Amino acid sequence: MKKYLQDNVISNKKIILRVDYNVPMKNGQILDDSKIKNTLETIYYLLSENCKIIILSHLGKVRNVEDKKKYSLEPIAQHLKELLNKEVYFSKENYGTNVVKRVNAMVSGEILVLENTRFMDIPNRLESNCDAQLSEFWASLGDIFVNDAFGCAHRRHASTYGISKYLPSCLGFLMQKEIGMLNRLVIHPIHPFTVIMGGAKVDDKLPLIESLLPKCDYLLCGGGIANTCLEALGFNIGESLSSDDKMVIDKMKELLFKYRNKFMLPLDAIVGTTYSPDYVQYKLINKINDNDMILDIGTKTIAKYKTAIMESETIFINGTVGYYENPKFANGTKEIFEILKQSKAIVVAGGGDATSSINNLNYTSAFTYISSGGGATLDYIAKGKLVAIENIIEGSDDIETLDI
Ligand code: 3PG
Repeated sequence: MKKYLQDNVISNKKIILRVDYNVPMKNGQILDDSKIKNTLETIYYLLSENCKIIILSHLGKVRNVEDKKKYSLEPIAQHLKELLNKEVYFSKENYGTNVVKRVNAMVSGEILVLENTRFMDIPNRLESNCDAQLSEFWASLGDIFVNDAFGCAHRRHASTYGISKYLPSCLGFLMQKEIGMLNRLVIHPIHPFTVIMGGAKVDDKLPLIESLLPKCDYLLCGGGIANTCLEALGFNIGESLSSDDKMVIDKMKELLFKYRNKFMLPLDAIVGTTYSPDYVQYKLINKINDNDMILDIGTKTIAKYKTAIMESETIFINGTVGYYENPKFANGTKEIFEILKQSKAIVVAGGGDATSSINNLNYTSAFTYISSGGGATLDYIAKGKLVAIENIIEGSDDIETLDI
């Protein structure tokens, strides 16, 4: 089997298609259907090859029986039907003899969505623990496994990784596109390569920071990342968000020393405070008081970061440099996007917060590519591989090796 879907003979086959339809929902309504739309290219291709398509996906974190009521894939199957303008069948079961019978009755060009794969986590976490029997069962339903679930390719689950042990398997179009674009950062990025990192989850992002520092020329910091760096350097950051793990702060100190020519930290800030919503002040970074919370970067920082951005050829942005959800602290995030708009670089965004801020502030045009993954994007950039597709890459018959 070749690793790319289009390089294989798949006509009239039964395809197990793993997608990531983990879409945001409220009261049964889909709030953003981009993850569903992103898979249409693969689905249209499979239909053009007269395949029978059995779709698997997870939705939400299914931890107990109650969660099963919230996270049925039925509304998503219905939405897919509307997008395709074609019948899409839904099976309330995803395991057992009824599923086998239903699949055996499928005709060419038919689409069947099985219920949320994570329902098999109750009670024994069979999906999330990559249970062999469950993986083998799902594999037994088809002839070929197509993995197009980029968003959860960092998960070694039965429906993402397990099936690929039992069936000829390949990568769908979304997976190929994501990896191809992210390879511009992972493999030989064009220099100068600038990384802009912000956001709150400092501890989670440390491995990503560590992996990017040797490859990039500049690391422009904002949000909790910048605060943790400033704290590690001995600045008073008042009540600002930062890591409270001493090991993280020590590691940051070590990185700040080792890569001192690459780190760029805020010179000034817009600060607020927990006790008064009206308190919004501009401060130089060495003038932060004990009650201050750094919530955005200031004008001197923006000007300094602009210099690095304008000379860059490749840029990756993750997280936001300020608390952009509150308009009083959104200027830094907006200004960085404005500068990115003017830059000549390949600009890639990854991670949920960066993506939401770009969409909410209407700056999609500033980007060459906005990755659809959260954890998967960051994992791929940090490690250069994704567990769910390991078998597909290693087991493929392609002569050349995959450049990932
Ligand atoms: C996502 O939305 O980031 C993916 O679908 C992965 O979801 P998970 O974090 O629940 O595994």
